[in-house]
Amino acid sequence: MTHKILLLPGDGIGPEIVAQAHKVLRAVDKRFSLGLEFDEALLGGAAIDTTGKPFPEATLRKAQAADAILLGAVGGPKWDQLDPAIRPEKGLLAIRSQLGLFGNLRPAILYPQLAEASSLKPEVVSGLDILIVRELTGGIYFGEPRGIERTAAGERRGYNTYVYSESEITRIGRLAFESARKRGRKVCSVDKANVLEVTILWREVMTELSREYPDVELSHMYVDNAAMQLVRAPKQFDVVVTGNMFGDILSDQAAMLTGSIGMLPSASLDENAKGLYEPCHGSAPDIAGQGVANPLATILSAAMLLRYSLGHNEAAEAIEKAVGGVLDMGLRTEDIYTPGTEKVSTEAMGDAVENTLI
Ligand code: IPM
Ligand code: MG
Repeated sequence: MTHKILLLPGDGIGPEIVAQAHKVLRAVDKRFSLGLEFDEALLGGAAIDTTGKPFPEATLRKAQAADAILLGAVGGPKWDQLDPAIRPEKGLLAIRSQLGLFGNLRPAILYPQLAEASSLKPEVVSGLDILIVRELTGGIYFGEPRGIERTAAGERRGYNTYVYSESEITRIGRLAFESARKRGRKVCSVDKANVLEVTILWREVMTELSREYPDVELSHMYVDNAAMQLVRAPKQFDVVVTGNMFGDILSDQAAMLTGSIGMLPSASLDENAKGLYEPCHGSAPDIAGQGVANPLATILSAAMLLRYSLGHNEAAEAIEKAVGGVLDMGLRTEDIYTPGTEKVSTEAMGDAVENTLI
């Protein structure tokens, strides 16, 4: 049996970090005889430069044919002046939406070796293990109408629509409750139900759904309080479920608790657990091409790919253990460097993980 994996290196540091994860996947493929087959396609700025579109037809076809997709990152200043409709980020939103990847899992786990690298006190973050479940194909990111128009008075007016249907909320809620069953059995649903009707509905639907999961404890929190609690006492959280935009913001914040956004992987799943896997960080154009980017979030995303889409838990655990191993050896990319450890390049970090696996 073979598994087709589509690589989408993208822009900025994307190609450098995907190359490391590719290397690591080939190493576990050999060790566990997984039958992985790789293909590559264009997405984002790289696709705009070659085809004029951020999500070309050819990439959609390859993505549909693949068993799982590994993405680097998209975007950069080179394309920032383009019409919003054809910017690199549109390519990412389009692939998420067209493949129905509604369920975004972003685990923020603190490796004990990195407690010193966090901007929070070690005692606040040690042992941290949060799963953010972000709705990824709805909410204000996709709501219509949207646009920038000129009013009768001649001034410009920008608008978006924050909308969720009951079925969209139920679907992401189920993913959160099911995920919680495999962990600490606690779900905190984050909303702004003191102001926004759409999240009043969100809260109601989550509460109704929770009756099907009596073994999981549901709590609710307003997003501003959640942002505060995440830095005050982050260990109170197990699974956090929230909409697209709040999830975008809170997951960057949660990432920093773990020492660096360079450590946070993610999985974006459809109804059948087919998925796209990507680091939560962006394309970091300021450090692209310098060999200093941290490849671990992408390597850990590759581990999630093996677990969630291919069901190869053993190979996934081997990668996660190898990442722990290189951190034990004291190897650090610049973003997680602290005095007394050894600063290494993107490639040297990838090599170290690969060597631990062979
Ligand atoms: C993320 C990113 C994307 C998002 C951008 C690049 C469109 O920030 O995956 O968190 O906002 O979803
Ligand atoms: Mg983001």
